[in-house]
This record gives sequence, structure tokens and C-alpha cells, in this order.
Amino acid sequence: MSNKIKNICCIGAGYVGGPTMSVFADKCPEITINVVDLNSKRIEEWNEKDLTKLPIYEPGLTKIISRCRDRNLFFSTDIERNLEKADMIFISVNTPTKKSGIGAGKASDLSYVEASTRQIAKHAKTNTIIVEKSTLPVRTADTIKKILFNVDACNDNSEIKKNFDILSNPEFLSEGNAIKDLESPDRVLIGGENEEAINELKNIYLNWVDYKKIITTNLWSAELSKLASNAFLAQRISSINSLSALCEASGADIKEVQIAIGSDSRIGNKFINPGPGFGGSCFKKDILNLVYLCEFYNLREVALYWQNILDLNQWQKNRLTKIVVEKLFGNISEKKIAILGFAFKSKTNDTRESSAIDICKNLLQEGANLSIYDPKVKDIQIENELNLKQNINLETHNKANWNFSKSIQICVEGADAILILTEWEEFEYLDWNMISKKMRKPSWIFDTRCTNNIDLAKKYGLNIWKLGNGKS
Ligand code: NAD
Ligand code: UGA
Repeated sequence: MSNKIKNICCIGAGYVGGPTMSVFADKCPEITINVVDLNSKRIEEWNEKDLTKLPIYEPGLTKIISRCRDRNLFFSTDIERNLEKADMIFISVNTPTKKSGIGAGKASDLSYVEASTRQIAKHAKTNTIIVEKSTLPVRTADTIKKILFNVDACNDNSEIKKNFDILSNPEFLSEGNAIKDLESPDRVLIGGENEEAINELKNIYLNWVDYKKIITTNLWSAELSKLASNAFLAQRISSINSLSALCEASGADIKEVQIAIGSDSRIGNKFINPGPGFGGSCFKKDILNLVYLCEFYNLREVALYWQNILDLNQWQKNRLTKIVVEKLFGNISEKKIAILGFAFKSKTNDTRESSAIDICKNLLQEGANLSIYDPKVKDIQIENELNLKQNINLETHNKANWNFSKSIQICVEGADAILILTEWEEFEYLDWNMISKKMRKPSWIFDTRCTNNIDLAKKYGLNIWKLGNGKS
């Protein structure tokens, strides 16, 4: 289907750049795709012969890599040469929250986007189409344009001023489902000003996506729609989590309420699972960015509205800690708490912004001894997230510590309580008989993920507290 585009370069071989370009290469064998990154270790991992060592785990990814790599898909650190050859360039670099300066803690740090744009201005040929794939604040395309059309950068050794078209094509994939989301997206969003450029990108997607699913808008709508989509998704979680607290107070049951409200087709039953608060690398970052934008445009009430979604999320994590302390007689000092699940959701080993981080830190501050088990997360990752080595005493509290457990059996040994934080499937089939024999009495189970079959634990004398259940 594709017209003029024969060579694509994607800057950023991360979670988005790697899987997205793999699917592009698989669906468009006539296009050569070069994914480039500054991080040579990451590129080496993408080029690993042993496909279990790819830098990103996603179901279905290894099959695609084995079909396309070194055929029409290449991973390289040679940014300059690959930019020179490209007809279309995707910017897929990280856009974290700014750590210092104006807007610190809220605004996006666009330094990686700016650096990539300067490289493009210098090395790309004229008439290249530049595609924003990263999640960006509204009107970032303006900044990109200003840099691209900067005379000094473009006229390097040349009298001719270069021309570029800029498109916004945000990515909506979710972790653990990336390949499925890329192969059958709910929609593809393309924002731009030049219809010809929009059609070039549209034609690429038409190789595997139904034309009815391709939405075209202006640049600013596309940029905002990405932030807004994440904000809407997060809002649903904060809404159901707020009601989980009301259920506990009033005697209602959040699972019943969830079914009742989700059965209304206008509301829908997706994305209303109550839990310990949303995590992941993007929801918090993108809502903070939205709040910053609203403040920038003097829309104080709108900023506050979205800030509340984040505040409620933090409150949910903090209140869960308080409940554990209260149920364990107001004191968890030196008590052993078994943490089941550390990843921010199941089917991934990603722990970025996982609710488990704050909850574990709170419990450690209260003096608890934690034993942490997760089927996919490594101990070094937990160590980095908690900023605390295993078994090393906290400076502020000389008794607190944590251990990584390789099995559930070891994790629950001598524990006063179990706290389920990630919805791993294996937690639905726990051997409560074995567990109750290993725990110290009285023993508590705190279930923050509404795990199926949790009630079985009662049979073996365990006390159960269930999120959003007013009767537990
Ligand atoms: P990531 O950190 O995994 O990858 C970004 C890569 O860009 C890194 O490998 C980094 O080395 C590279 N990079 C940075 N500056 C560079 C430069 N000047 N030249 C070459 N390489 C450079 O990030 P990610 O998770 O892939 O996210 C990328 C963007 O996509 C972000 O804006 C994010 O918000 C958005 N997004 C992420 C997801 C997700 O699930 N992770 C989903 C949708 C959208
Ligand atoms: C999310 C969005 O779903 C993607 O569309 C988006 O592209 C991506 O962010 C991004 O921009 O990075 P992701 O963070 O991978 O994807 O995972 P989600 O499935 O959205 O889960 C996020 C968090 O919400 C997890 O902690 C999960 O446990 C929690 N969650 C999700 C709930 O508590 N309840 C739910 O019903 C759904």
C-alpha cells in the first residue's frame, strides 16, 4: 500500500520504539526500518542471537524479531547514517517528568525530544516526514518545527533550506499486550497539517489496519488526545477505588457494585477493576503533564480536577497501609508481612511506579519485616525501587528490613500477614491449608486485588480483609 516511503528510521529503541517498529517491519516487508538508540547496551540486546535476552519481554515479540531482524528490521547506534537515509523518522524517545527548573515535578522533560530533533535537523534530507511517537505536551510540534527550521542547524554545509512535515501519531499500546495492541489497534491516530504527509503514514498502516480505524486530526488534537486517553483510563480506576472505600464503610461490596455499574453499556465493564492504585510508567507522568498544561493556560479548576485523580491514587495506597497496621493491633514493628506481587500489573516484570513501592516503603517505615515474592520481578529491581538493600537496616529505623523470597512457601513462613498487591493468576490457586500451617497466629490476609477464591482461606482459620468489601 505504501507510496514513497521506503526507508524509516526510529529514534529510541525502548518499550515503544522496539515493538512498534517490529510490527511495522513485519507488516511492511518492502520498507527498510532502522531503529537507533544512544544506548549501545540496549542495541546489543536487540541484536542478541538468543531471543530470550531481548531487552523487552512481550508475548509474540520474539517470533516477529526472528522473522524480520536483519531482513528489513535493523537495530543500530549509527544515528547519523540512518537519519540521512530515511524518508520518514519516528521520534520515540523517553519523556519523563521534569526533575528541576520551571515546571519541575509536573511538566515533561523534553530534552531527549529536543536532542533528537537537533540530530534530525542536521542529518536528515529535505522533505523527510517527522512523526512524533512519544507522548508529548500539546503544541510540542511547534517546538520541533522551530528547531527543524532553524537556519544554523539546517544549512550545515548547504545553501538549501530543508523542508520537513511533522505528524503526531501517539501510541496506545499497553504492556503485556503490546503486540496484540499494535497488530489490531482500536484506533490509529494521525495528526498533521499536510494531507500528503498524513496519507503517507496512513498508507503504511493500511497494510494491516482497517481504514475505518484510522482517525486523522489536527496536530494539537492528536497530541492532547493521547494525554486525555490516559487521563480517562486513570480516572476510571480512581473512581472505582474511591467507591471501594465507601463500600468498606457502608457494608456494600465493590465487586457487586462493579458488575452493576459495568453492565450499563454506556459505562462499560472494562478498566473498572478496583485495586491498590494504578502504577506504570505513564499514567502519573501524563496526568501531571496535563495538570501542568491546564495551569499554564490558567485553567485552575480543570487542573485541580485532574490532580484529584492522582491524589486519590496516592490516598488509596496510604489508606491500605493504615488498614494493615490497624488490623494488626496498631503495631507492625518486627512483624513479618509477606508481600505477594511487586510488578505494577500481572504479565509484566515492570515495576515502574508500582503501588507496591509506596506500600512497602510505608510498611517498612512502620517497622515491619517484609518478605517479597513476585514470579517475574528480580530482587535487584526491588532493591532499586525501594532504594534499600536486602536485610540492611534503615538508617532512620534500625529494625526495618526486607527479603526477597523465591517461592510463596518461603515467603509466608512465620508471617503475621499476607498482602496481595499484584493480580498474578497463581494467587488465585494458593494452597491455604499449607499457608495457614506456616503462618504465625492470628494470621491475616489482605487482598487488594479482589482475588478469586480468596474466601477459601477462611476455612483454614485465616482472617481475611478484602478491598471494597464492607463485610470482611
Ligand atoms: P524508553 O525509556 O523505554 O525508551 C526510550 C529510548 O530512547 C531509550 O532507549 C533512550 O536511550 C532513547 N533515547 C533518548 N534520547 C535519544 C537520542 N537523542 N537519540 C537516540 N536515542 C535516544 O521509553 P518508552 O517506554 O519506549 O516510551 C517512549 C515514549 O512513548 C514516552 O513518551 C512514553 O510516554 C510513550 N509511551 C510509552 C508506552 C509504554 O507502555 N511504555 C506506551 C505508549 C506511549
Ligand atoms: C497504559 C494504557 O492502558 C495504554 O493505552 C497507554 O498506551 C500506556 O499506559 C502508556 O501510555 O504508557 P499500561 O500502563 O501498560 O498502559 O497498563 P494498564 O493496563 O493501563 O494498567 C495501568 C495500571 O492500572 C496498572 O497498575 C493496573 O493494575 C491498574 N489497573 C488497570 C487497575 O487498577 N484497574 C483496572 O481496571 C485496570
